[in-house]
Amino acid sequence: MLVLGIETTCDETAAAVIERQPDGSGKILSNIVYSQTDDHAPYGGVVPEIAARAHIDLLDGIVGRAMKDADVNFAQLSGVAAAAGPGLIGGVIVGLTTAKAIAMVHDTPLVAVNHLEAHALTPRLTTALAFPYCLFLVSGGHTQIVAVLGVGQYVRLGTTVDDAMGEAFDKVAKMLGLPYPGGPQVERAASGGDPKRFAFPRPMLGRPDANFSLSGLKTAVRNEASRLIPLEEQDIADLCASFQAAALESTADRLSVGLKLFEAQFGPSHALVAAGGVASNQAIRGALQAVAAKAQTTLIIPPPALCTDNGAMIAWAGAERLALGLTDTMEAPPRARWLLDADAKAPAGHSKSRAAY
Ligand code: KG4
Ligand code: ZN
Repeated sequence: MLVLGIETTCDETAAAVIERQPDGSGKILSNIVYSQTDDHAPYGGVVPEIAARAHIDLLDGIVGRAMKDADVNFAQLSGVAAAAGPGLIGGVIVGLTTAKAIAMVHDTPLVAVNHLEAHALTPRLTTALAFPYCLFLVSGGHTQIVAVLGVGQYVRLGTTVDDAMGEAFDKVAKMLGLPYPGGPQVERAASGGDPKRFAFPRPMLGRPDANFSLSGLKTAVRNEASRLIPLEEQDIADLCASFQAAALESTADRLSVGLKLFEAQFGPSHALVAAGGVASNQAIRGALQAVAAKAQTTLIIPPPALCTDNGAMIAWAGAERLALGLTDTMEAPPRARWLLDADAKAPAGHSKSRAAY
């Protein structure tokens, strides 16, 4: 089956066409991603109104290119999928409305995809991976350990009680004067720094639950940075390296607990899978390798270009749902908030609105 996927939940305008075989394997026929980084850089972060307007300007052309590169016409599509949330509502409306228009005009099924589900299922596009598996979903808005039991079947095992991991990377970058978007900049600076110069806290280490906390670590970096002002280049590199080392050690500990919780409830995991923008960080890959080896499971991380937001992951999630006969109507709503595990309860100390985001 051929599926067009559209992604507009944040600051990437993206469209892709994928092909799914009856045996469950997949192939990317085209994958066009326009990152609006330059539009938002002057403001140090994503400006929702600018993002929504840019999606309107760009999306038709990006969809056209994705179809052309795949050498596919609309009549050949088995369905059209769009990320219907969670995300910035203006952008979500643009992508979902475009998908609805294509579905209506070409009389093809619509799939309203949860952006988080798309991250969760992406490893099955690049690898023959069976359910169930333990997912570390780590992006700018989310830091969760999730048991992926099947398409549409997710159980949250742990989550952040404050900042998301990508958000912490972005905030650290900003306080150190590194350009937006911060995550990759922190990784780059860290590669030339001393991870032992600053003994930052390792949040939640040794706790029996699998939750994360990053705001204390972020504050520790801020305090150290204020103490050192004016910051030399080496100070910034050392702060980044020490921050990243603390975040990674905490992550490794939280994931070890998450894998144990997974096994106790669902048996051995087929793999430890990481997805979301932060999973493109090479140092995180190294840390997760050790966690997976200790738990005697395999580590699977999609290639970096499929970890950060893209259309192929939306098309693939759409194909996985279509293969099960799951489609949506023209009434499918755009959603700013959309939990992956609909029945999940927010962890203690977690305000409802943040949990939902
Ligand atoms: O999944 P994604 O592209 O968008 C969201 O759904 O949030 O993730 C973006 C996040 C940003 O916070 C970005 O700084 C972070 O992922 N990120 C990284 C790296 N590349 C992207 N964080 C740390 N190291 C990286 N190499
Ligand atoms: Zn994402």
